[in-house]
Amino acid sequence: MNESDKRLAALAAVEEVRAGMSVGLGTGSTAAFAIEALGERVRGGLAVQAVATSLATEAHARAVGIALIDLPARIDLTIDGADEIDGALRAIKGAGGAMLREKVVAAASARMVVIADGSKRVAAIGAAKIPVETLPFARNFVAARLESLGAEVALRANFITNQGNSVLDCRFAPDIDHRRLAAEIAAIPGALGHGLFLTEVSAAYIATNGVVTRLER
Ligand code: 5RP
Repeated sequence: MNESDKRLAALAAVEEVRAGMSVGLGTGSTAAFAIEALGERVRGGLAVQAVATSLATEAHARAVGIALIDLPARIDLTIDGADEIDGALRAIKGAGGAMLREKVVAAASARMVVIADGSKRVAAIGAAKIPVETLPFARNFVAARLESLGAEVALRANFITNQGNSVLDCRFAPDIDHRRLAAEIAAIPGALGHGLFLTEVSAAYIATNGVVTRLER
C-alpha cells in the first residue's frame, strides 16, 4: 500500500464534488485522505452536506469542518475505498468493518466513486476475505450457513461494528459466482450486510506510482 498514491486517488475524486452536493464519505485510510481534501475545500468556501459511513468518519468530518446530515433518500456522490476492485468495477469492501453502512450509502448514491492505490486493483475480485456483518444472536447459525455456501469462516476477534454487531470474515474460492453468492448471503436471516459491491460502483480512481487512472462504468 502506498500512502501518496492513496492521497492522489482521493484528491482526484474530491475534484468531482460541486457546491450544493450531498456527499457520502467512506471509511478507511484512503477515504480519510478524501475527507481531509474535502475539508480543505469546505474551509475554502465550498458548501456541501455529507453523510458519514462510520463513527470514525463522522468524527473526522466534524474535525475538518464538514457539515453532516442524516442519510437522505438520495446522495449525489459517494467517495469510498475498497479492499479489491477489478476492471468491471466490482469491489470487495469491509476490511474496516463499515460495509453495512457503506452499502446503504452506496445504494442511496447517484454516483459512487472508489478510490484506491494500485495494490487494490485486481484482474478479478475474489482473493480478499468477504466480511459479513451478523446479528450476534445469530452468529453460529449464520456461520454454518456461510460454510454451507463454501466459506472458511472466522469470527473477527475483538471487534464489534458501529451497530453493535459481529463480523464473520469469509474466505471463498476465488472463482465462485459472486452474483449468486451475494444473493445467497443476503438471504440468510441474521446476516445484515456483506462486503460484495458488484453493481454499486460507478467509477474508480486508482493511483499507481503517482499516476491516477480513472475507470468508468
Ligand atoms: C471499510 C472499507 C474500506 O474502504 C476498505 O477496507 C479500504 O480501506 P483502506 O483505504 O484503509 O485500505 O471497506 O469498511
